[in-house]
Amino acid sequence: MSSVDVLLGLQWGDEGKGKIVDVLSPTYHMIARFQGGPNAGHTLEFEGKKYVLNTIPSGVFNPNTLNLIGNGVVIDPVIFKREIDNLKTNGYDPIATHKLVISKKAHLILPTHRLLDAASESKMGNSKIGSTLKGIGPTYQDKIGRSGLRVGDTMLPDFKERYDKLIAKHLETLSHYNIDIDYKEYEAQWFEGIELLKAMKQVDAEHLVNQYLKENKKVLAEGAQGTLLDIDFGSYPYVTSSNTTSAGACTGLGAAPNKLGSIIGIFKAYCTRVGGGPFPTELDNEVGEELRRIGHEFGATTGRPRRCGWIDLPALKYAIMLNGVTELVMTKADVLSGFEKIYACTHYIYNGETIDYMPFDILSVTATPVYKEIDGWKEDLTQIHEINEIPEKLMAYIKYLEKELGVPVKYLSVGPDRKQTLILS
Ligand code: GDP
Ligand code: IMO
Ligand code: MG
Repeated sequence: MSSVDVLLGLQWGDEGKGKIVDVLSPTYHMIARFQGGPNAGHTLEFEGKKYVLNTIPSGVFNPNTLNLIGNGVVIDPVIFKREIDNLKTNGYDPIATHKLVISKKAHLILPTHRLLDAASESKMGNSKIGSTLKGIGPTYQDKIGRSGLRVGDTMLPDFKERYDKLIAKHLETLSHYNIDIDYKEYEAQWFEGIELLKAMKQVDAEHLVNQYLKENKKVLAEGAQGTLLDIDFGSYPYVTSSNTTSAGACTGLGAAPNKLGSIIGIFKAYCTRVGGGPFPTELDNEVGEELRRIGHEFGATTGRPRRCGWIDLPALKYAIMLNGVTELVMTKADVLSGFEKIYACTHYIYNGETIDYMPFDILSVTATPVYKEIDGWKEDLTQIHEINEIPEKLMAYIKYLEKELGVPVKYLSVGPDRKQTLILS
């Protein structure tokens, strides 16, 4: 009997999940997305080309891997079709090659869910979540409220009636907002996307995943967003609307908790956040700008500039605890090359006291970070391929993090290309 390994983000998203899942995919029989939707933007680079995936798992470029979109994911048929068309243009057709399947239980993002997202944000003034406006929150609301539409419903004879009924309900809500509710053009594209979903293989994903495990096949669950955006444990309400933590892989795929294997936690050598909400180590200065410039820190989905700051160890320890992380991946170490000193937040000062966890009321009371100063390294990392080429000072940083976090760093990423990856242990 095999188990489901999970790779997930330990910060506020964009840690490099797509790149590392692509690197690991040849060693897995299945890659499965278990939560989130097209709010995600997972970037992969190889052979001089760059791809951004929103809903499709990052194993899609590996010819031998089956990719599954699990029940915990929410799908926008328009964005999904766009992703497929883009892959086809580049010579990949995972539907035709039967390398992409979707759970019948995954929920659909309707055109009006996007409008509801915009309506909700329009009322928030200065306290906007900074949603990607892809309709994620309203779709999960309908799921939990038991009125959502699922992928499997597309095959039912009364699908259009169900769709119209839910749209009417949304329009009633939207009539209370002063926003443009013209969705007819989007709706036409939406139904084209529905035809694509109907033409592809819709599966009982929980049975498929467990069948794979029984056959001793390896499954990797690919997280979206990051632990600090988790609906329960993130910086609420500045979070996304799903469980981004390892428990989400159980409910989002139908894998029992005792079927989870390695939990691979990925983090940047520094820290970023896109959207609103607390970020104790944020550098709202020229150093933060430097990180953004060198690290090309602009959202893969929305193009928004990402807020940048130093690594936050209390937050990382929290993420490791919540997920049961067994091994770590550190990305974007190359971005820090040339910084004379780098800094790691070890504690916060909060209400005059030193604490080493994120407090509940972090929104209203400032948690001021306390830093350890660390020597930087000058060497360019982007061309290194062997452990013995890693600069001494970077190795000291990695060892320091391993000691603080209590989990080994197994992979080191030194550039966006799949080849710029080192196995450390
Ligand atoms: P994801 O959402 O976790 O998959 O991450 P994103 O794709 O949104 O953002 C990560 C960005 O960093 C992408 O542009 C990647 O191509 C890039 N990237 C990933 N790993 C590295 C790395 O080690 N070094 C550098 N310089 N860029 C990286
Ligand atoms: P990947 O998978 C970074 C953020 C948004 C916003 C909040 C809520 O690429 O790491 P939502 O659209 O979910 O209602 O937005 O969550 N957010 C992300 N930030 N990476 C992501 O995904 C994100 N998905 C959502 O910016 O602050
Ligand atoms: Mg991303």
